[in-house]
Amino acid sequence: MEELVVDKEKLVNEKGFLDIGIDLRLDLFEEIKKLKKEKNAILLVHYYQDADIQDIADYIGDSLGLAQQAEKTPASIIAFAGVHFMAETAKILNPNKKVVLPDLRAGCSLADSCPPKEFKKFKEQHPDHIVISYINCTADIKAMSDIICTSSNAVAIVNSVPADKKIIFAPDKNLGRYIIKKTGRDMVLWNGTCMVHEIFSLEKIIKLKVKYPNAKVIAHPECEEAVLQHADFIGSTTALLKYTITSIEKEFIVATETGIIHQMIKESPGKMFIPAPPDNMCACNDCPHMKLNTLEKVYLCLKYELPEIIIPEETRSRALAPIKRMLEISKANGL
Ligand code: 13P
Ligand code: SF4
Repeated sequence: MEELVVDKEKLVNEKGFLDIGIDLRLDLFEEIKKLKKEKNAILLVHYYQDADIQDIADYIGDSLGLAQQAEKTPASIIAFAGVHFMAETAKILNPNKKVVLPDLRAGCSLADSCPPKEFKKFKEQHPDHIVISYINCTADIKAMSDIICTSSNAVAIVNSVPADKKIIFAPDKNLGRYIIKKTGRDMVLWNGTCMVHEIFSLEKIIKLKVKYPNAKVIAHPECEEAVLQHADFIGSTTALLKYTITSIEKEFIVATETGIIHQMIKESPGKMFIPAPPDNMCACNDCPHMKLNTLEKVYLCLKYELPEIIIPEETRSRALAPIKRMLEISKANGL
């Protein structure tokens, strides 16, 4: 029995995913459904995943929704189609459950921008500050934080901190700057950015606005300030999706990762969604980390229950308190 476990672990290659050939005749949708039932597993999916992964999700949502689902799921296994920090959050909330991520390389430039050693020094320079960290950070950074936030609840989280307390906000400086504007709180910002949201081309967005004069620009707060200044609506992925559903407008220029457009079209088939172009040769803006997950890898990770997220218990237990705090404040605010 023990030997089987050793062999199974060897299945994950040195890059961090299961590189195993799949019988092309398999209907992966049916196989994934069967595996989920057999193993009492739940598939949590972020909006930036490929459309076929979104279509097989048990729950699809933004970072807050995914953390809330991870907290309450009765499933024995959580398969997370998103990036590493999201699966890590699910594991922090569920130490006794197996949490698997289809490709361990699915990281995040924001999480990478905040190495624990440097952040520790940064904290030491501001000893009287409360630390609010955006959920897009590693378990080590969460363990050094007082409260976690997402783009859905950042305003409520910052407002929950007494006015006389000073705040460090990490790691996204664009979201931090936006929240300073919304709350009027003077926060010290860590200098991190999202490699996807920081490269939207304002020039190309303005050209699109000229071409589609009725289109509303909707943007994620991880975008650069100049892009946000031209946005008609700013919000988390869920907020952007809801806006497109409830708005009477029919055309939208979408300044966030293109995966979300799949849900927008599904919810509002009669409306037009134009991906805001990045400042490179591509027409749309995909997150290279999110897109490492594929339907094949989702199938393999459910079948072999690998690659698994493992966190040292000391880090996990310290990272749990600020996540729990976030979930409590969100609940109190009806989020
Ligand atoms: P939300 O889906 O929580 O808005 O986050 C966006 C994002 O960049 C996730 O990596
Ligand atoms: Fe990280 Fe940006 Fe990718 Fe989200 S879109 S996972 S913030 S790099």
